[in-house]
Amino acid sequence: MDQQEAANRIAYLVKELDRQNYNYYVLNIQEIDDYAFDQMMAELIGLEKAFPEFSTPASPSQRVGSDLNQEFQQVAHKYQMLSLSNTYSEEEVMEFDQRVRKLTDEDFEYVCELKFDGTSVSLTYENGLLVRAVTRGDGQKGDDVTANVKTIKSIPLQLKGDYPPEFEIRGEILLPFNEFDRLNRERDEIGEQPFANVRNAASGTLKLQNSSVVASRKLDAYLYYVLGNNLPDDGHLELLKHAATWGFKISEHTRKCHNLQEIFEYLHEWNIKRKDLPVATDGVVIKINSTRLQQELGFTAKSPRWAIAYKFKAEQESTTLISVSYQVGRTGAVTPVANLEPVLLSGTVVRRATLHNADNIQSLDLHEGDVVFIEKGGEIIPKIIRVDLSERHPMTKRIEFITHCPECNTLLVRQEGESAWYCPNDAGCPPQIKGKLEHFIGRKSMNIDGMGSETIDLFFQKNLIRNIADLYDLQKSQLISLDRLGEKSVNRIFESLEISKSVPFERVLFALGIRFVGETVARKLARELKSIGRIGSASLEELTGVDEIGSKIAESIISWFNKEQNRTLIDRLRNHHLNFEIVSAEKEGATEKLKGLSIIISGTFKKFTRDEIKAFIELNGGKNVTSLSPKTTYLVAGENIGPSKLEKAQKLKIPIITEEELVELTN
Ligand code: IVH
Repeated sequence: MDQQEAANRIAYLVKELDRQNYNYYVLNIQEIDDYAFDQMMAELIGLEKAFPEFSTPASPSQRVGSDLNQEFQQVAHKYQMLSLSNTYSEEEVMEFDQRVRKLTDEDFEYVCELKFDGTSVSLTYENGLLVRAVTRGDGQKGDDVTANVKTIKSIPLQLKGDYPPEFEIRGEILLPFNEFDRLNRERDEIGEQPFANVRNAASGTLKLQNSSVVASRKLDAYLYYVLGNNLPDDGHLELLKHAATWGFKISEHTRKCHNLQEIFEYLHEWNIKRKDLPVATDGVVIKINSTRLQQELGFTAKSPRWAIAYKFKAEQESTTLISVSYQVGRTGAVTPVANLEPVLLSGTVVRRATLHNADNIQSLDLHEGDVVFIEKGGEIIPKIIRVDLSERHPMTKRIEFITHCPECNTLLVRQEGESAWYCPNDAGCPPQIKGKLEHFIGRKSMNIDGMGSETIDLFFQKNLIRNIADLYDLQKSQLISLDRLGEKSVNRIFESLEISKSVPFERVLFALGIRFVGETVARKLARELKSIGRIGSASLEELTGVDEIGSKIAESIISWFNKEQNRTLIDRLRNHHLNFEIVSAEKEGATEKLKGLSIIISGTFKKFTRDEIKAFIELNGGKNVTSLSPKTTYLVAGENIGPSKLEKAQKLKIPIITEEELVELTN
């Protein structure tokens, strides 16, 4: 392909991918399937690599993010970013209307819009290009989160239509409910604390240092405020409609209201309908439509005089506390849970509420048999917000947090600065052992197919396993004799245990379940320190010298390796030939460049052995697949590749590349 052809093709792909992103993420229309989209994206990435002179900052390929850690620069806001004053009643909305009418004689219109519950951001566009995205911060200056915001597909990198040469637009970054649920399931799998609500999840994600992780969480954004000089209209709603034509996602539920009556209708309507929205809302924002009048009214020290937020009341119910039970997680953390007399709240029957920790029980001053108020708010699990003291029986006893583990009776401990009590008996406490085993076999860890929590439970009950190394000592004869497992399932388990021996080191490290060592931390540690020997003997300074590793994580690693039983575990696993160091032809420079790509290898290679090429693909974030399907991104063809495989790949139009080209892709 010559330069001109490449330039044309890149321009075509950029335009087409932008259009597809806009259709899908802004208009909710899917025109082409994921496979076709991924193919075009892979082609664009390949071409931009070969012809870097034609790659642009607005290219949709930029949305994949980067694996490099970023420090957020503080940037001063050109227009200060204030919040709104809140009201909780219709009377207060009437008072707001009266205040405004005292300040102006002219007739005006209101606009009612949903108050989205996420984290706000201000975007600056120059000549149609997104140049900066800044968080609210303290209102005067915020963090530059441009790299992260660029990964959000509903935010245009390049505008279309007749946009002003320079302006800012503000809006809310949101994590849709379904993505929030997926993320929390994933966090639960790795023993990380789930996000309490969508707002925390959105703001936490936006502040991640690694933009490729941000890209993997599907944030969304609604824009609600255009700022700048020489804007194309005076009306706020009219400006938003213009912004929609430039490519922004604007809520379709924003509506003009001419009087209080219409405002109240909007409030009543959306207090119900919001429950069907895919994203969280916590109220309605009422604004004066004319931006000229907005300017005349101006701001108080904290908020605009031309707008107010009406917050929906979180639904509350009262019920009786039956008992408090205590759950022990895989890390040993003990979580108190309130068992309640069943009660209907926001459409679901609630039987349990989280009590978070001992301090919370104490500050609620919870007593046995108390009548309590529960609330759902933005949280998924309801919480107890207060006790109805008028209903308390004078003789009831205060709820005291347990002192011993409910599962193994070990004395609980609490580390300084932490709110949770822990059971320190990690090698002997059943839920901790089972939790660690479940984590070890999980998809993101050793991916032991054919085993699940029921199998773990069964093996544990039958005294076959007490720790992760025991898995590799299992004998077929022991399992065949269990009536609940057929021969086929037993074979599958042994096969996957065997395959797990080629799982790369970083995943083995993650699978060990060391507290605070999640996927990213394990990857960083493995790539930097390269072997379990070095990680286990590293000093606090060496560990904290690794990107993203602070003293809390480092201390947890050191204390894990200080335990004799864990060192024995490693020795036993090593004897079973699990990977305890980085195996790769290219030890340095692991990337995420192959992320999202499914790659099949076939034939023999000059530079790599087959195991090495597999490890290389995984080290760079790709997936090594074993059968050709329309979802395969590339076939890496070595020498003596079978003709039938080649033919099938050609039929499915799967690009065939050489091992050198594979390496190229990661450069
Ligand atoms: S307008 C000058 N409109 O609520 C204030 N804000 O406390 C301009 N929010 O920080 C903000 N939905 O994060 C506006 N439709 C909406 C909103 C909205 C959510 C958030 C925003 C702001 C906070 C106000």
